[in-house]
Amino acid sequence: MKDHPLHKDTVVIHEGYEDQEHYGSLAVPLYQTSTYSFENAAQGASRFSGNEEGYIYSRLGNPTVRVLEERIAAIEDGAAALAFGSGMAAVSAILTHVTKAGDHVLCSRGIYGCTFGLLKIMEDKYKITHDLIRMDNEEEIEKFIRPETVCIYLETPINPTMELVNLEAVVNVGKKHGLQVIVDNTFTSPYLQNPISAGADFVLHSATKYINGHGDVVGGLLVGKEKEEIARIRGTIQKDYGGIMSPFDAWLLIRGLKTLPIRMERHSNNAEKLIAFLKNEKHVEEIYYPFDKDNPQFDIAKRQMRAGGGLISFTVKGGMQAAQRFMDHLQLIKIAVSLGDAETLIQHPATMTHSGVPAEDRLEMGITDSLLRLSVGLEHPDDLIRDMKTAFMALD
Ligand SMILES: Cc1ncc(COP(=O)(O)O)c(C=O)c1O
Repeated sequence: MKDHPLHKDTVVIHEGYEDQEHYGSLAVPLYQTSTYSFENAAQGASRFSGNEEGYIYSRLGNPTVRVLEERIAAIEDGAAALAFGSGMAAVSAILTHVTKAGDHVLCSRGIYGCTFGLLKIMEDKYKITHDLIRMDNEEEIEKFIRPETVCIYLETPINPTMELVNLEAVVNVGKKHGLQVIVDNTFTSPYLQNPISAGADFVLHSATKYINGHGDVVGGLLVGKEKEEIARIRGTIQKDYGGIMSPFDAWLLIRGLKTLPIRMERHSNNAEKLIAFLKNEKHVEEIYYPFDKDNPQFDIAKRQMRAGGGLISFTVKGGMQAAQRFMDHLQLIKIAVSLGDAETLIQHPATMTHSGVPAEDRLEMGITDSLLRLSVGLEHPDDLIRDMKTAFMALD
C-alpha cells in the first residue's frame, strides 16, 4: 500500500489497519480491554523490559487507540501521535513536556480559554511565564524572545476573531532561535492545514471537534515530527499523568475520521454560501472568515490553508441586545459552544466562551458585545439561510 504516497482522502480510511488477523473484520476492531495476558512469566518480563514489543496495560497502549494514533500521524504529516482523553489533556501534556520551572512561552494573542487557564496554573506553581502576542511577522515575534523562552504556542485561526497567525514567520523564528513550535490545529482540522509540513514541531487537536464531527466524543490528539520524542511523552507524561483516551472513543473517532475530507468540503462550501448571504444582510456589520476575498489576511489564508473551513464570526448592528435577540429567534441553528459538528451551532463569545476574559482584553482582541461565532454544519445551506433570515427579521 505504501508503494506511492496516498492522498489524505485515502489515508483517513486505511492508515494503520492493514492486517487481516481479526477474522477479516473490515472495521477496526474495538479492543475494550484494560489489560493483556502474557503467555508466561518470561514474556511478561520481556514486555516490561522493552525486549519484546506488545501490549501490557491499556494506559500504556491499546490496539484500537494505536490505529487512531497512526492514522492521525499520517494525516498530519507527522512521525507519531498520542491520543488523550480530551483536547486539554493533549495541551497540558505537550506544555508540560517542553517546559521546566522558570521557562517562558510565547503564545498567539488569542488562545483557548482553558489553555490560558493552564498557563496561569503553570505560572503560579512553576514560575513558567508567557506572553500573548501578535505573530504577523518575524521581527514582531523576536522582540519578545527571552533567554528562558523555550517554545512558541499558537492557534490559527484565532478563536473567535478568525485572525490568522503567519505560520511561515513563526517557523522561521522557531528555527533561528531553537524554539519548539506547537500549533493547536483544532479550528481548521487536519484536512485543511498541516503545520508540521510547514515546519512546526508538534500539532494538537481537540478531537472533540472536526475529527469526530458527530458531537459525541471528548478527546485529544498530539502529533510530533519525531517518533522518539512522542515515545518519550508516551513513556513519561502520558503514562504517569494518565490522561489517556478510551478504546471506544478511539473507535468512534476512527469512524468519524473516514468522512473528514467530505465533511470539511461541505462545511467550507456551506460557509461560503452563508457569507454571500450575510454580506447582503442589512443587520450585519463585519464578517470574519479566512477565505473571504475582502479579508486583509486572505493571502496568508491561501498559503497555509486548503479551504476556509466551517467557522464564521460576524457582528450584528445594535450591540449585545441585537445579537442575543437574533440568536433567540433561530430555530434550526442551535445555541451551543463547541464546533465541528454536523449541526450548525451559534454562540456569543462575550457572554459565553470568552466571558472569563476581562472586558478590556476582549475589546483589545476584537471580541465586541455584538460578535457572534457560527460553526457551520452540514445541513442544506438554503435551510440555514432561511433560519437566519427569519431571525434577522426580529431585528427590524
Ligand atoms: C482551540 C481549542 N483547543 C483546545 C480545546 C480543548 O479541547 P477539549 O474540550 O476537547 O478538551 C478546545 C475546546 O473547545 C478548543 O476550541
